[in-house]
Amino acid sequence: MKGFIFDLDGVIVDTAHFHFLAWKKTADELGLELTEEMNEQLKGVSRIDSLKKILAWADKEISQDHFDKLTTEKNTDYLSYVEEMTSGDILPGVEAFITQIKSQGYPVALGSASKNAPRILKKIGLFDLFDTIVDGNSVKKAKPDPEVFVIAAGNLGVAREECVVFEDSEAGVTAANNAGMVSIGIGSPENLGHADHVFGNFTEFSTEFIVNLEPKVK
Ligand code: BG6
Ligand code: MG
Repeated sequence: MKGFIFDLDGVIVDTAHFHFLAWKKTADELGLELTEEMNEQLKGVSRIDSLKKILAWADKEISQDHFDKLTTEKNTDYLSYVEEMTSGDILPGVEAFITQIKSQGYPVALGSASKNAPRILKKIGLFDLFDTIVDGNSVKKAKPDPEVFVIAAGNLGVAREECVVFEDSEAGVTAANNAGMVSIGIGSPENLGHADHVFGNFTEFSTEFIVNLEPKVK
């Protein structure tokens, strides 16, 4: 394997709970009680697609103006949590893993659906670690479409099949698989059973294990 692509939310930082709290407030306004199970289906999904799902669950149709107002309010609410973040919010083992893989000469990319990715990386002090940042501002098609990872591989100058993607979401693992890349699920096997390998966090595997993985597609 020659290129390493990291999702942000839920892989590098535990922002999933902040997204949940912010969407829960939106759902409340629409008369829907947002459950943790529903939230699982929102992980990795773009801001616009997330609200579309919530509206479908709430069985509500709203005007474009109302839609825009709700996504703006949700983001303002979410960013109030992000404002409090520090390097202490980096998930276990991930910074050491990225630093080690870079010291071995491999390029690393961020592949995130979030439009807030650069702001969060600067907040936690990891912005300069990435050779390329592909985020919600750079893609036309959201995960599970593979576009974000395909652009990241192109920017790294590495063939898709020689890339490994680290993902915590169902949609993100599907996107990596759709790109023909090796998918590493970070989370629970119940949600990420379609990943090539699943681990709880980055302390559970070595850089050697990852670098020596075989391509799925030749
Ligand atoms: C993903 C998160 O990384 O980014 C989703 O898992 C989120 O929950 C999506 O909706 C878009 O993020 P943002 O920050 O642009 O609203
Ligand atoms: Mg994620």
